Order: sequence, then C-alpha cells, then structure tokens
Amino acid sequence: MMRSNTCGELSENEKGKKVALSGWVNSRRDHGGVVFIDLRDRYGFTQVVFDPSHSKKVHEAADKLRREDVVFVSGMVRSRPEGMENPKMKTGRIEILADNIEILNRAETPPIEIDDRVEVNEDIALTYRYLELRKPKLQRNLALRHMVCKIVRDYFDAHGFLEIETPILAKSTPEGARDYLVPSRVNPGKFYALPQSPQLFKQLCMVAGLDRYFQIAKCFRDEDLRADRQPEFTQIDVEMSFIEQEDIQQIIEGLIKEIWKKAKNADVKLPLRRMPYDEAIGRYGSDKPDLRFGLELVDVTEIVKVSEFKVFTDNIKKGGVVKAINARGCASFSRKDIDELTSFVQIHGAKGLAWAKYDGVKMESSVVKYFSEGIQKEIIRKLDAKKGDLLMFVSDQNISVVNSSLGNLRLNLGKKLGLIDESKYEFLWVVDFPLVEYDNDAGRYTAMHHPFTSPKDIENFDKEPLKAKAKAYDIVLNGTELGGGSIRIHQREVQERLFGLLGIGKEEAEEKFGFLLGAFKYGAPPHGGIALGLDRMIALLSGADVPIRDVIAFPKNKQAQSLMDGAPSGVSAEQLRELHIKPDIVEAQPKEHLFGKIRESLDREKIVYEVLEHKAVFTSEEAAKVRGTQLRQGCKALVCKADGSLVQVVVPGDREIDAGKVKKELKVKDVNLANADDVKRISGCSIGAVPPFGNLFGLKVYFDKKVQENDEVAFNAGLHTKSIKMKAKDLIKVTGGVVKDFSK
Ligand code: AMO
Ligand code: AMP
Repeated sequence: MMRSNTCGELSENEKGKKVALSGWVNSRRDHGGVVFIDLRDRYGFTQVVFDPSHSKKVHEAADKLRREDVVFVSGMVRSRPEGMENPKMKTGRIEILADNIEILNRAETPPIEIDDRVEVNEDIALTYRYLELRKPKLQRNLALRHMVCKIVRDYFDAHGFLEIETPILAKSTPEGARDYLVPSRVNPGKFYALPQSPQLFKQLCMVAGLDRYFQIAKCFRDEDLRADRQPEFTQIDVEMSFIEQEDIQQIIEGLIKEIWKKAKNADVKLPLRRMPYDEAIGRYGSDKPDLRFGLELVDVTEIVKVSEFKVFTDNIKKGGVVKAINARGCASFSRKDIDELTSFVQIHGAKGLAWAKYDGVKMESSVVKYFSEGIQKEIIRKLDAKKGDLLMFVSDQNISVVNSSLGNLRLNLGKKLGLIDESKYEFLWVVDFPLVEYDNDAGRYTAMHHPFTSPKDIENFDKEPLKAKAKAYDIVLNGTELGGGSIRIHQREVQERLFGLLGIGKEEAEEKFGFLLGAFKYGAPPHGGIALGLDRMIALLSGADVPIRDVIAFPKNKQAQSLMDGAPSGVSAEQLRELHIKPDIVEAQPKEHLFGKIRESLDREKIVYEVLEHKAVFTSEEAAKVRGTQLRQGCKALVCKADGSLVQVVVPGDREIDAGKVKKELKVKDVNLANADDVKRISGCSIGAVPPFGNLFGLKVYFDKKVQENDEVAFNAGLHTKSIKMKAKDLIKVTGGVVKDFSK
C-alpha cells in the first residue's frame, strides 16, 4: 500500500488512527531535536513529526530529508498540542507521529521554490515547468480548468449539442493571423495549415445537418504574443442551425451562468447587457470596455471648435475630434505625473495631452489661454467638473487615435486610482460591429470579423460599406474579449457580393474556400455560432491579473518557444530531405533581435556593460524602480520625424523632449514623435523598449546633454524585460551620437 489517505484530508476525526501517506517534502524544520516536515501532494499538506524518543531510526532518516524528496511515511494521527494548530492549513489541527519512513526518491536541490509566494523568473519557470506546476496555485488553476471543461460538456450535452472533432491537419482558415504550416511528405511542396479555428469545418457540419455542434478545440495562430495570447490556445467552439443571433446569445448566457455558479458560486444576472459597438467606442474608446468603473470619454468637439487653440481647431477642420476624460480629484497630480500620462498617451499614438485643473472657480491649464470664459464654462458643465478635478484632452484628425489613446488612459487611471473593484464580474455583449474596415496599406476593405459574417442589411450593405453593420457579436468580461461570433452568410449570391466588396476575386475565393462555397450549393441552412477563449475564461475565473500561461499546463513563452522541451528545434537533414524541403537558412533565420545586435556591438568595442533582467516595464519610472537606478539615469529613446525624416533623440528619464530646442539644433521646421506603428516597423520593438541605438536601425542618434551628465545610464535593450547598464560616454561613442540641448 502506498497510501491510505492523501495529504489534504485528515482531521481530528481520524485521531488515533494509523495512516500511510506519500508525497513530496515541502519543508523540514528542526525544533529541539524533533524534526517536522510538511508533506505535500496535489490535495494539500500534512505535518509529520519525527521524534527521536518515539523512534530513533526514523528520526535519523528524517534528519537527512531535503526539499522535494519523495517519501512514504506511516504513523498515527494525533492532535497538535494546544497553541500549535495552524488555522490556515486544512489539516492544521492534526499531525502524524511517524513510526516509519521510506525514501522513495531523492531530489536534487530544485532550481525553483515550490511556493506560491515566490515569483520565479519566467524563463526558469518555463524551463522547469514540471516543478512550477507543483505549486498549489497552478494545480488549483488546472483543476478549475478541468471543472469548467466538464461543465461545458455537460451543458452542451443537455442542450442537444454533439461534440465533433475537426481536423488539425487542414487548409488555411480565414481568422486573419499567420498560419502554422506542416509540410506533407507524400505530397512534395504541399503544406497543411494548423487550424486558426475550426470555422469552416463547423459551418460544414451545419451543411451536413448536424444542427448543433460544439468542440473544445485547439487553435493555432502565429501572431505577436501578449499577456492574454498564446500561439496554441483552446476555444469553446459552437455552431447552430436555424437560429438567430439572440438564440446563440441565450445559449452562451446559460453556459456562463452555470460556469460562474458552479466554479465561483457567483450569480450572473441574465440577460447580459448589450451595447452597440459605436457606443462602446464612443464612451470607452474600446470595443471591449471594462465596465467596472466610470471615467468615460466625453466628446467636446462642438465646444472647442470655436476656441483659439489651433491644434484642436486644425484637427477638427480636417474631420477630427477632441475628447476628454475627467479624472475626479486628480488636480493634485504634479507636472511630472501629467508628463508621465502624456508619454503614456503618446505610446498609443496621440500627439499630446492637453490638461486643465479645476479649483471650483477657475481653470489652471496648459491650454486655458486659448479658451474664452464661455468655452471654459461649457467644458466644466459638459464634463461635470468639480473642485479638485483634472480634465485631460486628446485631439487628432484620426478619430481612432483619440479613442484608443484616451481609452487606454482610462484603463491606466482606473488601475492607478484604485477604481476597479476586482471582485466584480461585468459582462456585456458588444453588438452591431461594422461589417468591414478600410485597410489603408492594402487599399481595400477587409472583413472586421471574417468574410462569412452576414451583414445586417443584406440589401444595402455594399452601398456605404463603412456604415454597414454586421450580425457579429463579442462577449466581453472586465475589459477582456472572452469570445466572438456571428450569423453566417448562407446564400451564395450574398457571399459573392461580399467577396466582391472585399476584393476577393472568384478565383481566389475558389482557391481558398472553394470547398465551403461548393457545399453551400447543396442546401445550407441559416446558421451562426461563436467561440469563447477557454484559456482567457479560466484566467479570469482564477483571479485578477492571472496571465494566460498560468492556466495552461505547458505554455509557450513570448517568443513562442517551449523552453522545457526546446520546441521549436532544428530537424535532421534526413527529415528535411524526406519532406522535400531545402531551407535557405540565411533567409529562414528570424531577423536577429536588436538585443543581440546591441550586445554584439558593445562586445566588439570591448565596452563594459551589465545586462539586467526584470519584469516587463513600460515607463521610465517603472524601469528605474526595477533597475534600482535614478530616474535621470534612464534613457528615453524617442524616434522622431524631423521635417519628415526619422532621427532618434535621447533624453534622460526625468525630462521631456523639447520640440523647440530640437527644431533649433537640427535646423528643421517640424518635429513630431513617430507613432507606435512606425516605431515598431523601423526598430522592430514596441514603444517603451526602444534602445538608444538608432544607429543599429539606420537612424542618426542625438543625445540630450543631460544624458552625458550621468556617469552610468540604463535603458531597455529592445525588450521590456531586459535592460543594459553602461557608461554614458561609452554609449554616446558606440552609437556615434551627437550631444546637444534637447530637453526640458
Ligand atoms: P475569434 O478569432 O474572435 O473568433 O476567437 C474567439 C476567441 O478566442 C480567444 N482567442 C485567443 N485566446 C488565446 N490566445 C490567442 N492567441 C487567442 N486568439 C483568440 C478569444 C477570442 O474572443 N471562428 C471565430 C468564431 C466564430 O465566428 O464562431 C473565431 O475564432 O477569447
Ligand atoms: P503647445 O501650446 O503646443 O505647447 O501645446 C499645449 C498643450 O497641448 C500641451 O500640453 C500639449 O501636450 C497639448 N497638445 C498638443 N497636441 C495635442 C493633441 N493633439 N491633443 C491634445 N493635446 C495636445
């Protein structure tokens, strides 16, 4: 017998009973010659006592135990002495007095501590995933995941759905990310695509008359990873025939209610709120608004269009808008606080952030000189400003820049000001999505959801395409897109008109989706469906800010690698030959990351530097904190457009770029910060991670003279999680930088 009980279940009811337990040594303590261990398994912890006066032999054996050794112990359950109970432990009132111990396996000192409270560097945690998974927190998450999957299967079964598996080796699907491809050995030169979703197959199930389909489906998307994205993830995928949008929403609402009841004992009130897409964007600047707090966006275009502030009026003339949020009680923010917020909205594409503090009588502001008293009054009224409020404005000729930057500012402030009640679940359906959007780069319309989504107005959708709405809906929880779906087009003629609008020619349609269109010839029922992101749902159910990788047993890191097994990895020449693949390794190698290039250039010049690894940081302040450096030692490496050409201007972390000075020093008329997309395109890294090494991506580097006043400086080296610390003078030298006065 390996065990009579688990480590999580004994109580005073078993007092006096002989029991046997097996598990891992979580910790060992020695109190006055008596050894105590906490034995751990999936079910909990139990304290075991090795008393030399009870058995010298077992005490001696226990004395040699180390963390994570695997042992079998047997002994008697007894109450802990008074005052020694541990109310935090389920088994905290008892302990086992050991009469026997067997060491089943010795463990080397583990590279990570099996302790929920100890955060481990991500790379190490993922390399030793099987140890990280021993943590109770992760085991709880996986148990919850199992429970939810069971609820999902029972629920759909009870509602007449069939669970149907669809192929993994398939043809490319239209979800819009890049495909993972698998070469076919028996069909030289041909590839399968791993499904980005079972979209086409589930529609074919409807054509096949299967009526109600669901699947807990693996999906694969080769896209940039974030905290809530994995390259390989799981959907609760659903498709139904002879239904309307409302029917699907009701089925999903029933499922949500059941999951939240069983998993969280929370009552979700139905029906869930519905909000048109335009309203979500207008009021929250996002199509997945977090409704746990206010701070709504207010359009003040009409008020300020008669002001003297040229930035605003010029944008309005070009069809742009001015919107604002009222940060209640934030008039106490310092200039530095506001500068930080300005940098923050700039990351999201805004050109600037105008602000106004209201003291109940008058406004103090960066722009008040341009606003007449009448305009000020109207702003105060429209934003319901009270004494002590801080009003913040963004204007741009591109409305989505205003919405996205203020929407993100809203989230940032919501967190910073503690406005978010983490115990709340705010669900909503975002409905009436636009059917298409215009892709400026490609010069054509693209489907907002996917090209099989039905327009709301079948007759007229192609007359004013950008105004047309789709029968598409997303379910959103606390600012996360939990799922999305649509009613599909089931008539060939409508499908052809939409393809026409999207610039998908007959041939292309035939090549990509011919099998679906072919099937539609033979009687496709009206149908529609949805997919919920299972991983995201479990993450949200597991608690606030749980990253998606904490609910997946074996996740990938941000570079889509599995550090534990080393995937992706090279393959043998033999395998490649069998697959008829001759790689051009130079071509195939990923573009070398800037971080490597920086190190290479420093090593080449034999420059001394230090690499710091830390949690992801996005602002100068966060960075200074994790690096343990002064704010002024940080380098804000800004990519700027100076009369249309790109340069890099580097200012210290505690200062701002002074456009006037830049204009003067560089003898240009116009200086703007490049937008986030341009920065990404040019440097390959996202804003906040750009290093002061513009020379490595073709930009002349200009340093503010205050940078040089530091002995040592530090900067994000192309990654949010890695910094380099080095001498300022070496930095300027190695980048060929020019030093002038650029900051304020
Ligand atoms: P969509 O592409 O919106 O729709 O995906 C549905 C849901 O899947 C989750 N999700 C992800 N979760 C983790 N990592 C990812 N990389 C990732 N990408 C998406 C999200 C998202 O809301 N076939 C359609 C559904 C349909 O029309 O029925 C589809 O896949 O929670
Ligand atoms: P200026 O008069 O140019 O110094 O600008 C005054 C204020 O307007 C500063 O606080 C800028 O950050 C802000 N500002 C500049 N451009 C914009 C914009 N597009 N939207 C909102 N505020 C802006």
